[in-house]
Amino acid sequence: MTENILAPSMLSADFKVLGEQLKQTEEAGAQYIHFDVMDGIFVPSISFGMPVLSSVKGATAQVMDVHLMVTEPARYVKEFAACGADIITIHLEACEDPGAALDAIHACGARAGISIKPGTPVEELIPYLEQADMFLIMSVEPGFGGQAFIPESLGRIGQLRGLLEERGLEKDLEVDGGIYHSNVAEVLDAGANVIVSGSGVYRGDIRKNVADFMEILSNHE
Ligand code: DX5
Ligand code: ZN
Repeated sequence: MTENILAPSMLSADFKVLGEQLKQTEEAGAQYIHFDVMDGIFVPSISFGMPVLSSVKGATAQVMDVHLMVTEPARYVKEFAACGADIITIHLEACEDPGAALDAIHACGARAGISIKPGTPVEELIPYLEQADMFLIMSVEPGFGGQAFIPESLGRIGQLRGLLEERGLEKDLEVDGGIYHSNVAEVLDAGANVIVSGSGVYRGDIRKNVADFMEILSNHE
């Protein structure tokens, strides 16, 4: 069985006190830091990149889960790996050759993830089921935190978990966008095991938010 993991999205943190807030997520049990990179082309917004990753790497012992919402991300994987990325996830829609991008990530010694936007058919991931280590189903249009979960995502998560199981593949299935305590159980039930949450962690009491998520994640069969 794959472990259930919480990946708080740093995008929703208060950057004035970032180190302190990351530490709180770690102490309350979150295993990953989800690091959203946006280039203003693949998605409308611009977030942060390599220098910020180098700076936060080592602030905690958490796994650095880097989500590249960037056109032709293969151009940058070496640098992100050198700055401390443990997992690098690219978007299928952003690459001319997604398989080559996944190979480039593995060549740097990082774990390789591949993501699809809500409108991309799940079947498009079939060629990469063996090659990728993690699959990210976006449950909102990528680009901004704080959006509402798209309910059709549940069926897509189930479909992908089914495709993996049919092949005997035990891989990580991450879901990102609009996940809160109120709906995380449904996302886990559908077949996800890596939960990204920005607003659900960083709005309000961070320690309590993480602890409440972890209670649901660790008790879920
Ligand atoms: C959206 C990002 C997400 C975002 C999630 O494009 O990939 O990681 O921060 O934020 P919430 O949990 O607020 O939807
Ligand atoms: Zn993300």
